[in-house]
Amino acid sequence: MSENSNTYKIHFLPNDKIVEVNGGSTVLDAAHNANIYINSICGGDGICGKCKVILSSGTVDAPTTKLLSKEEVDKDYIIACEAGITSDLQILIPHETRLEGKKILLDQNEQHAMTWKATLDQANFKHDALVKKICLKLEPPTVDDNVADHERLYQAIMMKQGVELNVMQTGYSILKKLPTVLRQEDWTVTVTLGHRGKILEIIDVQPGDTSNTNYGVAIDVGTTTVVACLLEMETSKIVDSEAVYNTQMKFGEDYIQRIIYAIQNEALDEMQRSIVTDINNLISTLVERNSIILEDITAIASAGNTTMHHFLLGLDPERIRKEPYIPTANFIPPIRAIQIGIDINSRGLLYTLPSVSAYVGADITSGATAIRLDKKEMPTLLIDIGTNGEVVLGNEEWMVCCSASAGPAFEGSGIKHGMRAAKGAIEIIHITKEFEVSYSTIGDIPPRGICGSGLLDCIAEMLRSGIIDRSGNFQKGIKTDRLRKKR
Ligand code: FES
Repeated sequence: MSENSNTYKIHFLPNDKIVEVNGGSTVLDAAHNANIYINSICGGDGICGKCKVILSSGTVDAPTTKLLSKEEVDKDYIIACEAGITSDLQILIPHETRLEGKKILLDQNEQHAMTWKATLDQANFKHDALVKKICLKLEPPTVDDNVADHERLYQAIMMKQGVELNVMQTGYSILKKLPTVLRQEDWTVTVTLGHRGKILEIIDVQPGDTSNTNYGVAIDVGTTTVVACLLEMETSKIVDSEAVYNTQMKFGEDYIQRIIYAIQNEALDEMQRSIVTDINNLISTLVERNSIILEDITAIASAGNTTMHHFLLGLDPERIRKEPYIPTANFIPPIRAIQIGIDINSRGLLYTLPSVSAYVGADITSGATAIRLDKKEMPTLLIDIGTNGEVVLGNEEWMVCCSASAGPAFEGSGIKHGMRAAKGAIEIIHITKEFEVSYSTIGDIPPRGICGSGLLDCIAEMLRSGIIDRSGNFQKGIKTDRLRKKR
C-alpha cells in the first residue's frame, strides 16, 4: 500500500509499468491510467470476457464469473473490468489480451496512389486550396500615396485574387505585427488566406516569399485508427502519411461504449485530449520525418463519423445515442486548430467535413464525394467497412444510406476465440475437397484466435467446399470427423 492508505500501486507486466490508483478502482481502470491498452470489446461491462489478466500478487474484490473456465481460475486469471483493487498488485497481461502488434494498413503503395489520383482527376475537381499562400510585392508608401498599411495590403490582395473588399477579414494579432512585417523584406510579403464560409481571412503575413512552404494535413479520425496525410497545399501532392491506433479505445471499443463512458464518467474533456494527442503525435512524426516546421502547416481537414467528430471538438455526444438521435452539429464551421489543442500554425484552420446525421458521418460523405457518386448514371454502391460500417447506394439523382456497427463483429466480439487482427490471429483458411484445413496466422506464430478476415475466409471456404449451404446451414450427410455435434 502507498503512503496514502486509499491508493495502491499496480505493477503491469510485461510492460513493466507501475501506476497508482484509488482503492475500489478496477484493474481495467488502472490499465487505462497507465496507458496500457487491453482487449475490452464490451467497454468494461463484464460481457465479452476479453479483458482477462493474471493476478500474480495481491488481492482483488471480484465476483464469481462464467467468463472464466475452471482452469483459468486455477491459473489466477481475473476479469480486469470486474476486479476491484484492494491491495498493491502485480498483474500479468497475457498475449491474447494485449492490443499491441496489430496491423494498420496504410495505402502508401505508389501504384495505388496513381490509381487514386486518376480517380480524383476523373472526378473533375478543380484544385482550389481552402488555405493558400500568395506572395505580394507592395509599392512602398509615399507622400502622394499615403494609404495605411492594412488597406495597402488589402488592395494588393484584391488585385491578385480578384476578391471583393467586403469578404475579407483580418485578426487583431495580424494588425499588430503588420507594419513591421511589411517593411522587413522591403515590402515583399507572403499572405496566407483561408476560407471561412464566404469570408476570406488573412491567417498570417510573413516577410519575404514563403509561398512554396504551405502544407495541410488530411486526417481520417476512425474509431479504431487515426490516419494523417501530409499534403502540399499548392499541388495537393501527398508528401507522407502515418497512422496510429486511436487511444480512445481504452474508453470502449465502439463509439456507443465511448459515449456511455463519457457521460457516466464526465470524461468528455479527457477523451477529447486523448484524440487530440494522437493527432499531434502523428503531425509531429510527419513534420520531423519531412524536415518541415509546424508553422508551415496552415490547415487540417478531418473526416470521421459523427461521434468521433463530436469527441474531436469536445461537443456533447449524448443525444447521438438516444432517440431521436440528434447530433450537436452536422455542419461544423471552420475553427482555429489551436482552439482544440491541435498543434500547427497558431492561426491555422481546422475544417471538419460535414455529416448527414448521427449515424451517417463525414467518413461516408467524403468517400461518396471522392468517387463522385453524385455524378454516376448507374446506381452505384459504396461500402465503407470500419469499426462502424456504412453502405450508400445511389446515383446522380438519389442516394440512400444505412450504417451498423461492423468492427466488433469482424474483430471477434461474440466469437469464443475471436480476436483482432493481431499477431497469432488466423487470417487465411483453406479447406480441401476432403475437408482438410490449412491456415496461416498473422506473424506466422502459433494461433491465438481468429480475426474478422479469418472468419470470412472460413465461411467462404465452408460454402465453397460444400460444408454449409447458401443459407449458412450445415449440409446433411457430410462424412468427416471434423464436423460433429456439440456435446
Ligand atoms: S468483460 Fe471486461 S471488458 Fe468485456
